[in-house]
Amino acid sequence: EATPEIKKGLVGVYADVSTISKVMPETNSLTYRGYAVQDLCENCSFEEVAYLLWNGELPNRGQLAEFKAAEAAEREISPALHRVIKDFPASAHPMDAIRTAVSFMGMEDPESADVSEAATRRKAIRLLAKIPTAIAAAHRAAKGLPPVAPDPSHSFGENFFNLVFGKVPQPEVLKAFDVSLILYAEHTFNASTYTARLVTSTGADIHGAITAGIAALKGPLHGGANEAVMHMLTEIGGPEQAEEWLSTRFDHKALVMGFGHRVYKSGDSRVPTMTKYAEKMAEVVGDRRWMETSRVLAAKMLKEKNIHPNLDFPAGPAYYLMGFDIPLFTPIFVAARITGWAAHVIEQAADNRLIRPLSHYTGPEQRPVPPMDQR
Ligand code: CMC
Repeated sequence: EATPEIKKGLVGVYADVSTISKVMPETNSLTYRGYAVQDLCENCSFEEVAYLLWNGELPNRGQLAEFKAAEAAEREISPALHRVIKDFPASAHPMDAIRTAVSFMGMEDPESADVSEAATRRKAIRLLAKIPTAIAAAHRAAKGLPPVAPDPSHSFGENFFNLVFGKVPQPEVLKAFDVSLILYAEHTFNASTYTARLVTSTGADIHGAITAGIAALKGPLHGGANEAVMHMLTEIGGPEQAEEWLSTRFDHKALVMGFGHRVYKSGDSRVPTMTKYAEKMAEVVGDRRWMETSRVLAAKMLKEKNIHPNLDFPAGPAYYLMGFDIPLFTPIFVAARITGWAAHVIEQAADNRLIRPLSHYTGPEQRPVPPMDQR
C-alpha cells in the first residue's frame, strides 16, 4: 500500500477560506479585516478592534457606544460561579481556572443550547465581558483576597486592571495593555483558533469551542510561551548573563521560548509594535533590565540561529512590568483572543462542513485476539 503524503503538523495546508485576518509572511505583515495591526494599535481601542473582528467594519461613535455598553452590562459572574472559583485548588494554574470557569459559564448560559448565529453573538459578548471577571476572581481567591466588583464605567482595559489590582493604572500603562490585547486578538488558523473551529464544525456550542481553545492555548508552544519567556528572563537574571545562558541552551539543543513561528520565518509582524510599548513600560517603571536581557537574547538568536522573536517575547516582559504575576500572562491572552476565536466560530458555523481528516495507519497487521492465558 502506497504511503500518502503526510502533512505532519498540517504544515502549509490551507484548510478553509476566511475573511477575518491575513498573515503575509513575505512582508511580515498582518491585517484584521483589511486593516494593518500597527495602524489599529495606534488609532483604535481594543473594543473597536473587537467590534471590527465580529462585524467586519470599524464602529462609528454610536455603534461603539452601544457595543461598549453591551459588554459593560455583562461583566458580573454568577454567585454560583463565584462559589465554584473559591473552591478551586489554590495551586491551580490560572489557565486551568479560566478554562473551567468558561465551561461552567456554558452550563449556566440562558441560551446554552442555541447555536444560531444571533445567540452565538450574544454569548460571545457575555464571554468577552465575563472572562476578565473570572480570571481576576480566581487569581485573587488563590491569594486569599476577595473579588473586586466590575465597574461598568470602566473601559475594557481599565476594568481588567481594576478587577486584578483594585485600581486603574496611569494612561501609558493602559495604552500598552490595550495594544497587547489588539495584537493578541486574532491570528488566522493558529492552534487554538483551529481547535475552536473544529469543535464548532461538529455543531457544538461556543462555550465548548472556547473551552477547547483555552486548553490549546495553554501549551508552551502556543500561548503558554508568554509566561515561559518571563520565567526564562527571571532565571537569566540580567543582560550580563544572557549570552552564556543562551550558549548553554544551544549546547542542549533546547527550545528558546518566545522565538520561532510556524508562519513567519523572517520576523513576526506584531513584534516591533509590542517591543515599542514594552520599552515604554520599562521607562515608566524605571527598570530596563528585562528589555536589555531581551535585546541580548534576540541579537544572539538572530546571529547564530537566524530565528526571530515572536509576539510572546516582548509581551512577557511588558506584562511583568505592568505588575501582573507571571501565571496571569496567558489568561490575558485568553481575554484578548476570545474576540478572534468568536469571529472564527461564527464564520465556521455560517458555512460549515465537519472537520475530519484521515490518518495513515502504520500499526500492526490485522491479527486474531489471543485467548487470555496466551497473552
Ligand atoms: N528555539 C530554538 N530553536 C528553534 C526555535 C526556538 N524557539 N524555534 C524553532 N527552532 C528551530 C527548530 O528546532 C528547527 O530546527 P531544525 O531544523 O534543526 O530541526 C528549526 O528552527 C525550524 O523550526 P520548526 O520546528 O520547523 O518550527 P515549527 O513551525 O514546527 O514550530 C514553533 C514553530 C513556534 C512551535 C517553534 O518555533 C517553537 O517551539 N518556539 C518556541 C515556543 C514559542 O515561542 N511559541 C510561541 C509561538 S507564537 C505566538 C503564540 O502562539 O503564542
